[in-house]
Amino acid sequence: MGSAKYLSIFTLATKQERLANFDSYWEFTQKHGGELFEADKDLAKKRARLQHFKDNPVKLRTPLANPELFYRNYIDMQDDPKSLAPIILMLTGMYKFARHEWVGIKGAWDVVPDMANSHSIEDKISRVHLAEEFCHVRLFDEMLRTCGLDQVEWVPLTPVKEWIYEQFPKAPGFLMDAPAFVTELMGVTYYFYLHRLFDELLIDEPEVRTRLKELLDEITIDEIAHVGQRRNFIGPIGMKVSKWLVKPFYTMFFNDIPEVGQLFDVKQMIKDGEAFDFNEVPDYMVERSWIPSYCKA
Ligand SMILES: [Fe+2]
Ligand SMILES: [Fe+2]
Repeated sequence: MGSAKYLSIFTLATKQERLANFDSYWEFTQKHGGELFEADKDLAKKRARLQHFKDNPVKLRTPLANPELFYRNYIDMQDDPKSLAPIILMLTGMYKFARHEWVGIKGAWDVVPDMANSHSIEDKISRVHLAEEFCHVRLFDEMLRTCGLDQVEWVPLTPVKEWIYEQFPKAPGFLMDAPAFVTELMGVTYYFYLHRLFDELLIDEPEVRTRLKELLDEITIDEIAHVGQRRNFIGPIGMKVSKWLVKPFYTMFFNDIPEVGQLFDVKQMIKDGEAFDFNEVPDYMVERSWIPSYCKA
């Protein structure tokens, strides 16, 4: 494809390029999220956007037939996933994905320096990044509410799993940068699949379909920027490790969420992750997101 606009996310970059890209990302992220409200783990522009959605709610034309099936399976799968309607699987899967994200950021928030103690640009970027992730959990919560699920509780994982998540951000960069990058990439892959599933499953629910896409887009646009930002932490050896990690990471993570394997082709998701290059990202998202300079053709 001679006309491709962007190069593989695994494209190598020099140290100098990466330093310049941290500056560029930092400028982007401040404009993108607006003021950081550290006590609330929130950002001004994201908060306003969520409030706009809450002030203009939409509802399903036909409410979910069996919301109790969602509530019985959303924390742990109790029923045979094959027995559940795709819409229920989609919603419990969304909760489970967001819950992992929530647990990961809760553990990190208390470990990484707050803004007052962030002296390097990388630390500042990481603080805002975490605040954005908290906004994503709120957006996911709003997606579930939009489908009539207003009794959802955000439940911690088992103490052992919570502990593992808490250790992660304490690890030195050369160990955690590649997994952190691959995790962001996995998010983008999942959100793209989810976006397409909205079209399939909500054919008779145009208002909710549009709203869920708007809510998801708020997340995906951030995550596309996170993919580039986390990639920017990584040198040549780490990039090889990262590409190698896509398969085991996606496999391990999605094994833990049986809904994903029921709804999507995980093998194809892995291939998409390994081949990711921003060319599939629609223009309206690119305009609001951030892409490393060395990934531009
Ligand atoms: Fe996120
Ligand atoms: Fe992210």
